[in-house]
Amino acid sequence: MAIEEIWKDVDLYFKTKLHAADPLLDAVLKANAEAGLPAIDVTPNQGKLLYLLAKIIGATAILEIGTLGGYSSIWLARALPDDGKLITLEYNKKHAEVAAANVKKAGLDKKIEIVVGPALETLPTLEKRGFRSFDLIFIDADRKNHPSYLKWALKLARPGTVIVADNVVRRGRILDESSADLEIQGVRRFIDLLSEETRIEATAVQTVSGKGYDGFVIGVVNG
Ligand code: SAH
Ligand code: DHB
Ligand code: MG
Repeated sequence: MAIEEIWKDVDLYFKTKLHAADPLLDAVLKANAEAGLPAIDVTPNQGKLLYLLAKIIGATAILEIGTLGGYSSIWLARALPDDGKLITLEYNKKHAEVAAANVKKAGLDKKIEIVVGPALETLPTLEKRGFRSFDLIFIDADRKNHPSYLKWALKLARPGTVIVADNVVRRGRILDESSADLEIQGVRRFIDLLSEETRIEATAVQTVSGKGYDGFVIGVVNG
């Protein structure tokens, strides 16, 4: 059996055992596929991890950069209390429309706000609206802008804010320091910034799943 098949089967085993019946989230993935969205959402087990992180820290305000069809947004928002809020940023109008329909179907339209536009243009509007202390920030958009998103995350964080960034391994391509791929260079610069940044303590976790081999950074902002 190819190792990728084993990754997929093990992922399914844990999904089935630990958070089996979830027709709503299954329907979200189906709606995304029917709308022609790329299947690049976090995996179910990763979605559950995001949910658990939000729950563990008692998050009431969450920022997500990169909505797609709202799959990770819904996982995260499920951890919020009644008066909690998740803001998610998406520049693709079609993705935002599909996400809005999914969020409504999930009954989370009061908690989830989808802000449409390039994140580097909409992040300043959040600052102007007075958002200064998100409890959890999930970075999962265009990786070439990971460094800028890290700077914004710090602006919109407080001591204790958890920062998670997806896609930092890319099948190991992250090690190619002379890569011509702007996304690889973006992630490498992001890691450089993290290593220089005294305000954040971070680590990176490599992941294998049905989606292949990748990984995420997880960190916490210090005082
Ligand atoms: N977090 C989602 C997956 C996001 S995929 C999930 O796990 O369910 C990345 C998304 O980021 C795509 O929908 C893409 O359109 C969006 N994106 C890419 N560049 C962007 C930018 N500059 N500003 C806002 N959104 C962007
Ligand atoms: C891609 C983007 C993602 O956010 C992800 O988790 C996996 C793949 C992509 O653009 O290929
Ligand atoms: Mg991703």
